[in-house]
This record gives sequence, C-alpha cells and structure tokens, in this order.
Amino acid sequence: MISERIEEAINKQINAELYSAYLYASMAAYFDANALSGFSNWMRIQVQEEISHAVKFYQFLNDRGGRVILTALCAPPTQWPSPLAVFEEVYKHEQDVTRLINGLADLAAEEKDHMSKELLQWFIAEQVEEEASADKIVQDLKRVGDNGHGLLMLDREAARRVFVSATSSKT
Ligand code: FEO
Repeated sequence: MISERIEEAINKQINAELYSAYLYASMAAYFDANALSGFSNWMRIQVQEEISHAVKFYQFLNDRGGRVILTALCAPPTQWPSPLAVFEEVYKHEQDVTRLINGLADLAAEEKDHMSKELLQWFIAEQVEEEASADKIVQDLKRVGDNGHGLLMLDREAARRVFVSATSSKT
C-alpha cells in the first residue's frame, strides 16, 4: 500500500509528464509549420518519452494499490520566436521537471517509502540525460547563429533520433 501523500504527489507527476508531452507536441507542430522536419522528429520522440514516463508512474501507482486520477492539462504555448527559443524553453522545462522529481524523492525519503525511492532514482538519472540533451542543442544552435546551412545540418542530425521506451527497462 502507498501513502496518501505519495499517491497524490505521483498523480500530480503523471499530469506533469503528460503536460510535457503536450508541450513537446506543440513544439513539433511549430517545427512542422516551419519546414524543420528533423527538429519535429526530435520533439515527437520527446512526446513518446514523456508518455512513457507518465505510464511508468501510472503502472507503479497501480502496482502499489494506489488510485490513478487524471486531471486537466493546461494548453501549451504554440509560437516561439526561433528554434533556439524553443530549445531554451525545453531546457528550462526539464530543469523544472527535475525540481519536481527531486521534491518527490524528498517526500519518499520523508515517508520512508523505499519502493518509491528506487523508482525515483531511475527518474533522477533520466533527468540528467533530459537536461543534457536539451542543453546540447541549445549550445549547437547558439554556435550556428544565423547560418542557414548550419541550421539545416542540425535539423538533419535531429532527424536521426529514435525512441527508447522508459517502460522497457526494469525498475
Ligand atoms: Fe519526463 Fe522530460 O521529463
């Protein structure tokens, strides 16, 4: 059985992960509208990753005898001034998610919930990767600046990203 405080916090995190998917889907649509299909692919993979994060929390809560409660998602932004602005927002958003995961880990420690702590270790490691991959693209975009050829090269690189499910690894 899981404590009510952890159950409520995990339900909030499921909403946050699904909102992340919604935000990245909106960013994919922005890139499609601006003929940058590689960055759109990167965002679509990110959508799948975020949904798999939500499912991982969902399955965990269910397995622990908790009740999954889905709540309304906020509407994401739809327009950005540049590809760089999009990825700067991704990086900032992932830092916000890291703060949420850290808060959950603090709560699990407070509640002496070792099973939740173990699950959250996986998410803490995942956030290192999430922040690093967004920051790398921010740095690359800053480097190419107004160079259209450079932007096209980065778009092609982003087209090669593939999806790896979070639920395929054991936690
Ligand atoms: Fe589910 Fe991008 O953190």
